[in-house]
Amino acid sequence: MKAFFAISLFIFTGIFTALFFGFGLGEASEPLEYDDEQEGLEDEIVIKFSHVAAENTPKGQAVRKFASLIQKRTDGEIKVEIHANGTLYNDQNEYQALKNNHIQMIAPATSKLTDKFPKWQVLDLPFAFPTYKDVKKAYEGPIGQTLLTELKNDQVKGLSFWYNGYKQMTSSEDPLLRPSDFKLMHFRIMPSPVIKAQYQALGASTSVLPFNKIYENLDVDFINGQENTASNIYTKKLYETQDHMTISNHGYLGYVVLMNEIFWKELSKEHQDIIQKTMAETTDWSWRHSIEMNDSQLREMKRTDAIEVHYLNDQQKQLWEDALESVYKEARPVIGDKLFNEVMKLKEHD
Ligand code: SIN
Repeated sequence: MKAFFAISLFIFTGIFTALFFGFGLGEASEPLEYDDEQEGLEDEIVIKFSHVAAENTPKGQAVRKFASLIQKRTDGEIKVEIHANGTLYNDQNEYQALKNNHIQMIAPATSKLTDKFPKWQVLDLPFAFPTYKDVKKAYEGPIGQTLLTELKNDQVKGLSFWYNGYKQMTSSEDPLLRPSDFKLMHFRIMPSPVIKAQYQALGASTSVLPFNKIYENLDVDFINGQENTASNIYTKKLYETQDHMTISNHGYLGYVVLMNEIFWKELSKEHQDIIQKTMAETTDWSWRHSIEMNDSQLREMKRTDAIEVHYLNDQQKQLWEDALESVYKEARPVIGDKLFNEVMKLKEHD
């Protein structure tokens, strides 16, 4: 009987303790603490911004700047969630993910739009934009406007062009100084027929590979060369697999900033205005900072002897230009006379 009493008391105490403390009934009468951080979370608009570059690059930094300004200017009503380094989508599937509204913003290299929009190849023509100012004129003038208009048929809103830098050639074989140095080499390229034609004209072969697969494909010698900006070469440590870099400035790598169009249309006018104003400001920031970022990352590679750096002299540059003339002839019918002539105006101004 004593044992029965002791067991009953034990069970009763257990249930009472669980109800009072464990299930929190004792606190039910206390007022809940107010957490203003949680207020309005249900109404928060999230923009998932996915990109493949590293954080410490012109694109990575521009996305961060845009995100923090948007958060501030909308008092936290819009949050831009950044997914860098291709952690969410890579360059081969991010456009479709944007269209499906799985992500709301991307900023692919312009060359990556050329399979859907062939006229975009105009930006890949070799030696088309001799100075940084010419690149800016192309992006912000009639060429850029014509290209952005093309996107309207695909439910994608083109917001702006962002800057990175001129592409340089790297090689794990010999230095690339004369057109004949390209013979029998195999290069990684972005998916643009003009870029492919450029290497064909130089006697090299190519494979289209995602940005984040360049390192490993160089490492196993599937490819033995590639072209990219100093910033991308530095931040992706491509110098570890490459012996030579030629400062050729033969093409420009920049970005188009895109948003899902339905998402855009559902935003309030006030939010759209903030996004457009912030985008213009970030574009200007990207223009002013991209050159210095590329220069300082190139200086760092030179300082540490990470890769042997070569510069094309005028005579070598002329030999490259002559060898690449056929690329213009091939591309003209695809690009169309209007855009082609606009580029020729920029190319030949000096
Ligand atoms: C990027 O800068 O977004 C990638 C460029 C590349 O694919 O080479």
